[in-house]
Amino acid sequence: MMAFSMPSLEPDAWLHRVTEKLGPVVVIRDTFNVSTLWTTDLKAIAYVLNNPQIYSRPEVSRYWFKEFIGDGLVVAEGETQQRQRRIMNPAFGAMPVREMTKIFVDVSHELCGEMRALCSAPANSKSMFDGAVKEQKITEGWTEIDMAQWTSRAALDMLSLAAFQYPLNTLQRSRSSNDYGLFHALEEVYTFSVLNFALLLLRGWMPLLRLRMFERDDTSARVKRLNDVVKKLAKRLIQERVEMIQEGQINAGDRDVLTLLVRAMLDGQKSRSMSEEEVIGQIMTLIVSGHETPAQAMVWALHSLSHAPEVQDKLRLEAKAILHNSPNPTLDELNSLPYLDNVVREALRLHSPGAWMERTPQSVDCIPVEMPYEDRYGNMRDHITISPGDKIRISVLSINRREDIWGPDAREFNPDRWDKLPQEADKIPGIIANSMAFSTGPRGCIGFRFAIAEMKAMLYILLREFEFEPAVPKEKVIRRPQVVSRPILRGEVASRLPIRVRPIKNIY
Ligand code: HEM
Repeated sequence: MMAFSMPSLEPDAWLHRVTEKLGPVVVIRDTFNVSTLWTTDLKAIAYVLNNPQIYSRPEVSRYWFKEFIGDGLVVAEGETQQRQRRIMNPAFGAMPVREMTKIFVDVSHELCGEMRALCSAPANSKSMFDGAVKEQKITEGWTEIDMAQWTSRAALDMLSLAAFQYPLNTLQRSRSSNDYGLFHALEEVYTFSVLNFALLLLRGWMPLLRLRMFERDDTSARVKRLNDVVKKLAKRLIQERVEMIQEGQINAGDRDVLTLLVRAMLDGQKSRSMSEEEVIGQIMTLIVSGHETPAQAMVWALHSLSHAPEVQDKLRLEAKAILHNSPNPTLDELNSLPYLDNVVREALRLHSPGAWMERTPQSVDCIPVEMPYEDRYGNMRDHITISPGDKIRISVLSINRREDIWGPDAREFNPDRWDKLPQEADKIPGIIANSMAFSTGPRGCIGFRFAIAEMKAMLYILLREFEFEPAVPKEKVIRRPQVVSRPILRGEVASRLPIRVRPIKNIY
């Protein structure tokens, strides 16, 4: 264990280098001299994540999450988090997700329709809609499409239908240049300059700057616009659902998350009720975390697939052999495709969109470690002593890419590795086996089944209809260190990922 100071951007690359050099337990003097434990020790990580009563999110992270994701489950702690999670859990079980899969398949077909329209547009035509999305004809048959935009739109439509039974129709609306809407408000918030980003970071650390008089910058205006748009939508959704419940239009067995939330709002019992403000917070949280993470997981998966035509072929062959290329697979059918499962797991391992997590202890504690380590005084230790005010940073990406676990090709996209996993990978704590992508413990991702079903449906349908090829060299695509890691082209501000696509003829 050693202490030194660090620059704070690109934490995963940094953590990777630091822990490789100094071992899995490192203490760093982070911003404002906060003592921050960076560890890739699996036993320590499992302990921290499985004890949320001791380890909560630091106030600074909660502030940032509240700004971007809303005052919902992600931000809640203690009894409030447990109560909110109890209310929402049934909406994310295996059965409801099985039923949602039809929505995921239908929206994926709609996405293909939009992509086909772009592909058949005249050569070198400009964007069909708003200027932010530029598609270009490259050569006969191939069209360059910003897939980051399109997976985002599709994921938002999937979320709104599956969670709220509400059609946002983001894919269709994209044709209208005057439509402001939720999608644009979300995109705006995730596109800010380095200066605005720095201001936002500062506000997390210096609560004084959160006073209204200091919130006159562009980022604050964007965050406020998003909050206004979501609040208006949430109020409408709640009102409509209250009326539907009161008029008996909702069955007792209906378990979409909006119905569960509104029932809790109408429920008088404190142990299972929610205020209207809380429900609005959950809607915001679900909209952002429920569409942004799967959208990024999808676009990173397509990025890797565009560089691996042999993997694309193998997926198509499997779909043909097992499902006869069925256009409307059920979740059970999608789950019967082992190679598709490998591809999804590999994309989540290599590109985990929730790149890192932070925790802080509420009391002095001893964290057990897997491998004894040498502290800065040369003493061997089998635990880490930690105190309130210290911070722990857990890098999901670094763990999912540890070479001592995955081998020298840990940073390569290789779906075949899931057929014969290294024994060491069994030690990785996770809601899904051998992966930290959805975290672990009582605060692990509530939507993991939802996300996997969505990814499988979208990949199956897209690969059935299109071939993918890289539009830019691999080195030009970098990961922006944000709450969710979005792809960005080196030197640019807004997130985007152009990929060449070509419709497959004669699939039917
Ligand atoms: C590939 C897609 C996804 C990934 C990689 C992902 C990843 C994660 C991770 C790592 C956490 C834990 C964060 C922490 O403890 O600091 C988390 C929590 C959470 N996720 Fe996801 N997620 C995904 C999709 C979804 C979806 C589809 C939804 C909802 C529809 C969702 C809703 C949530 C919520 C509400 C939490 C907070 C849970 C709690 O604190 O009790 N996520 N997610």
